[in-house]
Amino acid sequence: MCGIVGYVGTNHCAQLLLSGLRRLEYRGYDSAGIAIADEEGEVRVCRAEGKLQQLEQAYREDPFDGTIGLGHTRWATHGRPSELNAHPHRAGRVIVAHNGIIENYLELKKELTARGCKFSSETDTEVVAHLIDEMWSDSDQSLHDATRLALDKIEGSYALAVISTENPDELVVARYASPMVVAHGDNCAYAASDVPAVLDHTRKFVFLHDGDTAVLSQEGIAVYGDDGQPVEREVKRIHWDPVSAEKQGYKHFMLKEIHEQPARITDTLRGRVSVDRGEVNLAELNLDADKVADLDKIVFLACGTSYFAAQIAKYMIEEVARISVETDLASEFRYRNPLVSDRTLAIAISQSGETADTLAAIREAGELGATTLSIVNVIESTIARETDGVLYTHAGPEIGVASTKAFTTQLAAVGMLAIKLGRLNGTLDVEAARELISALRQVPAELETMLQDTSQYEEIARQYSRANSFLYLGRGNQYPIAMEGALKLKEISYIHAEGYAAGEMKHGPIALIDRNLPVVVLSPQNSVYEKTASNLEEVKARGGRIIAIGTEGDDRLDAFSDVVISLPEVPEFVQPLVSVLAVQLLAYHIADFKGTDVDQPRNLAKSVTVE
Ligand code: M6R
Repeated sequence: MCGIVGYVGTNHCAQLLLSGLRRLEYRGYDSAGIAIADEEGEVRVCRAEGKLQQLEQAYREDPFDGTIGLGHTRWATHGRPSELNAHPHRAGRVIVAHNGIIENYLELKKELTARGCKFSSETDTEVVAHLIDEMWSDSDQSLHDATRLALDKIEGSYALAVISTENPDELVVARYASPMVVAHGDNCAYAASDVPAVLDHTRKFVFLHDGDTAVLSQEGIAVYGDDGQPVEREVKRIHWDPVSAEKQGYKHFMLKEIHEQPARITDTLRGRVSVDRGEVNLAELNLDADKVADLDKIVFLACGTSYFAAQIAKYMIEEVARISVETDLASEFRYRNPLVSDRTLAIAISQSGETADTLAAIREAGELGATTLSIVNVIESTIARETDGVLYTHAGPEIGVASTKAFTTQLAAVGMLAIKLGRLNGTLDVEAARELISALRQVPAELETMLQDTSQYEEIARQYSRANSFLYLGRGNQYPIAMEGALKLKEISYIHAEGYAAGEMKHGPIALIDRNLPVVVLSPQNSVYEKTASNLEEVKARGGRIIAIGTEGDDRLDAFSDVVISLPEVPEFVQPLVSVLAVQLLAYHIADFKGTDVDQPRNLAKSVTVE
């Protein structure tokens, strides 16, 4: 995910900006840049694709310095990783670094181009620089005034840092749905997307609120609320050491990423869904009604957690769009003789976009004549580049080896895809589409509520972490969540776990049930609730210990279970997006209680680029 660092003061700041960017490296990035204004207001920009080493090398070859500047690490979302797309971006007098997504950038770009603006990048951010420059029409205005006027035209999320050639002693920042902090120093001020960027220089931070803007100068920091009026924001002293600051105070990256899920799902839906119109806009996939009507089937190809997202896609798409869906483990698909035709749509799901088996399988499907799409998190990764269309999840870099936010954003993506296919196929009317879109939009708030108090999971971890094995049961769209729960538990706690279709229990696993085998039953109120609840009673009758994950207020689960984890009531379509949070937290707290290496479990790699 992108990172921003900014400085204004009395000292030369090039080294401070570069070291600030180093502190943000853990967030992942694919290009970086700095911009610095000298005392006369001349601004120099240096950018490079790749790692910071490349930027430092480019800077060393042609160094410059000054007392105000911006630095940025970019994780590509709009436009591939390249020097031209790297931030900061300049338009006329204005230089901008931006984190977030400008939803209406295409519309704004068209208007700006018609008025004569020339664009040098493919990014959404450059639009912001042009808009601010255009708004700064009057000499009585300040850079801050122009920035606020430009922000009125922008839809989306942003953490912005802006400097100018006109006013080289002021740095303007803005925040909406993307973090931004400002910090006080001696005769200087700092701006950053994350605390670690400037923690070596100051401990006095102000956390901006959504809608805030701030003007930073040698004299200090003035903050303005969303109505443009000055506001007082509390100055907080941060005592974190740099490593816990990278984790934003969380004990592990995995826990931080679990807590990020509401925001990352919102980012994934952003600009793509309209509840009012009952529409999903996935223009990047080039799907139309004729193409969809001609499909013989859809085949999903994936590995690990991404494979479970594919299995949920099957439930969603078959239910909503009535198109036959197959799911294949990529490692199996590539070595059998699969039935694929030019009427097949093959879709790879991959966080990294580099998984060797998934890549080989989607290539194979393409060679057999299928149209290929991908649902990928990493922009310009190999799978993204090699498929006919790509739907990016906006999970941001996932550092914990155990996939969490990548999975829930994949589910948001396949949910949108199901609605899109249903509309194109004529199986979903506008009213029904509206309801499903609202359900997707409801998820982040429900997850936020669930994340407010997780103490129950710590207690469960204390009671159950000595078990040698766990069984997870689920039916319908909770069956893949049962398997994902089991995978999460085994990979980070090293406890054996199995995920099973609840209806299959009596065909074998029931023999395992005794006091020593905790059984996690995913049983929210849905179309298969009665069936799952009967399975739960069967486990109870055999003396099994039950951890039930069900809908809030379900007395039946209370009566038959040792522990009940409550889920908010949401439509069945999106139940996997909330129940998975419970199994993630369960696995995390058990592993943490056991003291395993949660972020880098033994024998595992984040990206499996070999067979
Ligand atoms: O990058 P991908 O989504 O293609 O990765 C697939 C699997 O390797 C990955 O999901 C793996 O199973 C995770 N460790 C699960 O937490």
